[in-house]
Amino acid sequence: MTQQSVVISGTGLWTPSESITNEELAISFNEYVRRHNERYAAEIERGEVEALGVSDAAFIEKASGIKQRYVLNKEGVLDPDRMYPYLPERSDEEMSIQAEIAIKAVKQALENAGRTVDDLDAVLVACSNMQRAYPAVAVEVQHYLGMERGWGYDMNVACSAATFGLQAAVDAIRTGSAKCVVVVNPEITSGHLCWTDRDCHFIFGDVSTAVVLEREDDATSANQWRVLGTRLQTKFSSNIRNNFGFLNRCDEAGVGARDKLFRQEGRKVFKEVCPMVAEQILSHIGDLNIAPGDLNRMWLHQANLSMNELIAKRVLGRPADRIEAPVILDEYANTSSAGSIIAFHKHNADLPKGAQGVICSFGAGYSIGSVIVERVV
Ligand SMILES: CC(C)(COP(=O)(O)OP(=O)(O)OC[C@H]1O[C@@H](n2cnc3c(N)ncnc32)[C@H](O)[C@@H]1OP(=O)(O)O)[C@@H](O)C(=O)NCCC(=O)NCCS
Repeated sequence: MTQQSVVISGTGLWTPSESITNEELAISFNEYVRRHNERYAAEIERGEVEALGVSDAAFIEKASGIKQRYVLNKEGVLDPDRMYPYLPERSDEEMSIQAEIAIKAVKQALENAGRTVDDLDAVLVACSNMQRAYPAVAVEVQHYLGMERGWGYDMNVACSAATFGLQAAVDAIRTGSAKCVVVVNPEITSGHLCWTDRDCHFIFGDVSTAVVLEREDDATSANQWRVLGTRLQTKFSSNIRNNFGFLNRCDEAGVGARDKLFRQEGRKVFKEVCPMVAEQILSHIGDLNIAPGDLNRMWLHQANLSMNELIAKRVLGRPADRIEAPVILDEYANTSSAGSIIAFHKHNADLPKGAQGVICSFGAGYSIGSVIVERVV
């Protein structure tokens, strides 16, 4: 069987209109802490409840590189009496909010690819959190896009969901089960973040990204990136974990317990994941006969600036500049699977034909995905 060559022919990015700076976040968090410590003063005095420590905007930027994040709802997150977004559930007859933001990114990606909904064979919704168990959000996206044929399915590989989705799309096109696929990452991370936990309340932001992939011999867009190879790796770890799930109601702790939201051992993640990612990129490009010095760009997952600097340095053998390894987490924070796709979307058009780069994600699982691309048009 002849394997089709596959290109990324268009990407899309939808950014929420509301944003929260580190300073705004720290002010509301510290007010929450003040109220908590005042309310439980007696219990804290008796050693029954722990006093909470304050957060600090300068610490957040220094520890992570994050300056602000976009969110779907700022009011609820910053309300010291609430500390999570207002995102009311919609009726079964209305489009869900996750499908809505997915469609915004898909439409832009289709436009950039010079494609219409009718060209699509499949929609893959790949992200960290699905709004519901079923029907798959992807099938809803397919419906509200107005696709009259084809299929959709959801996949969750946490922060690596986008690259895992890209491999699934590439494989489907290479082997002929699809000609044109969109992978979409509607990340509503504000819903899984514990905004009252000082160690992580600053980490995440909301966004939606999409990537259209198709057979190279069909593609007509003015910006095409041939996929030279994809590689995935997983290795079990509980250092990034969220125990939310359908069995929560069967346990007395219930859905409201702290472990039903994102939590991590940040330092361990840092130490364990960075070498794995650098090794994967080096072995992946090595197998494709690409020398590190020939990589024009690394569109890395955007979780922590120091992590990205360390990975890029290990790959290149010297520090990378921000043109070689673009940074978007200062503006967007960690948008889970969407981070490397935002970086690619915003920072690929300047590269010439023949330029080569790697889109690389990493996160819970642990999971690592690398997609090596070369600009062909
Ligand atoms: C989360 C992360 C930014 C924390 O940075 P860090 O330098 O490891 O910071 P630590 O958690 O060790 O905290 C250092 C100190 O600052 C304090 N601190 C934590 N959060 C704080 C905040 N918001 N404001 C002020 N101080 C804070 C800690 O309590 C600790 O105090 P101590 O030394 O007295 O114990 C960092 O570990 C990280 O990004 N790791 C990788 C995570 C990642 O990429 N995960 C992938 C998710 S997809």
